[in-house]
Amino acid sequence: MQKRPPDRLNRALAHLAASPGKRLRPRLLQAAASAVGNESGKTLAINAAEAIELIHTYSLIHDDLPAMDDDDLRRGQATLHVAFDEATAILVGDGLQTRAFELIASDEQLSPQQRVDLIVCLTKASGFDGMVGGQGLDIEATEQALTLEQLKNIHALKTGALITAALVMGGIVGQANSAQKITLEAVGDRIGLAFQIIDDVIDVRSDSATLGKTAGKDSAAGKLTYVTLMGLEAAENTATHLYEEALGLIDGWGPEADKLRDLLARMVKRDR
Ligand code: IPE
Ligand code: IPE
Ligand code: MG
Ligand code: MG
Ligand code: MG
Repeated sequence: MQKRPPDRLNRALAHLAASPGKRLRPRLLQAAASAVGNESGKTLAINAAEAIELIHTYSLIHDDLPAMDDDDLRRGQATLHVAFDEATAILVGDGLQTRAFELIASDEQLSPQQRVDLIVCLTKASGFDGMVGGQGLDIEATEQALTLEQLKNIHALKTGALITAALVMGGIVGQANSAQKITLEAVGDRIGLAFQIIDDVIDVRSDSATLGKTAGKDSAAGKLTYVTLMGLEAAENTATHLYEEALGLIDGWGPEADKLRDLLARMVKRDR
């Protein structure tokens, strides 16, 4: 049979694959699966890890659209709607999202109960009560005065929810007990907020070449951030404090949590 030449969506997927990003969420998921004491956790978590990265990547593609943040640079290359067109960017985002759930639902390494639990966790974290809800509030809040509490809520939803889901999903794959799951969720609350605070810090401090996305975007777009509310140094200190709290929560965990500890540090100590 003759092979069909790649169509527009396939070419768009190849464009994405050429610059994959930091892949922090799948790494967190796999590290959490091992950290709860399951030796094969990392291998068992492969599909779930890929799934959360697909959801995250879709969120970035839609975040960059002209109707949202209107960005033309992502992961060091042209955003999808610039390299192709808006319809392609919307459709690729849609397709990545459904593929994520297919990957989990059809993962024969996991029990039916684990698959359902993973899907429930990921749908909640990515939908109206998570990333999408937070993105909605973020758009609504542009050029608005916000209290710190309101800003914290937007960050927790648009960014924190998926990061917490990465940790909890790792716990599901690694068969964490309920105390471990509660701890993973608490770690996620702190490191997810810290991660978005640092995203806003490096938006001011770093340059576009290092970031791989347009620097100085938040103030140009009239976004209120921890940096505008409290200044660069205080914002960074807040993130460091949240990171230290997160680390403290897993103080009693053994060396199997070392990879997770390393990743928590990478979430805050970064310039891109
Ligand atoms: C950027 O996420 C968007 C936020 C939620 C702050 P990342 O910094 O993890 O982006 P990639 O995946 O490495 O490109
Ligand atoms: C992104 O927040 C949150 C998402 C859910 C995609 P930003 O709009 O600050 O992310 P960047 O800076 O464009 O990566
Ligand atoms: Mg945005
Ligand atoms: Mg953006
Ligand atoms: Mg940003």
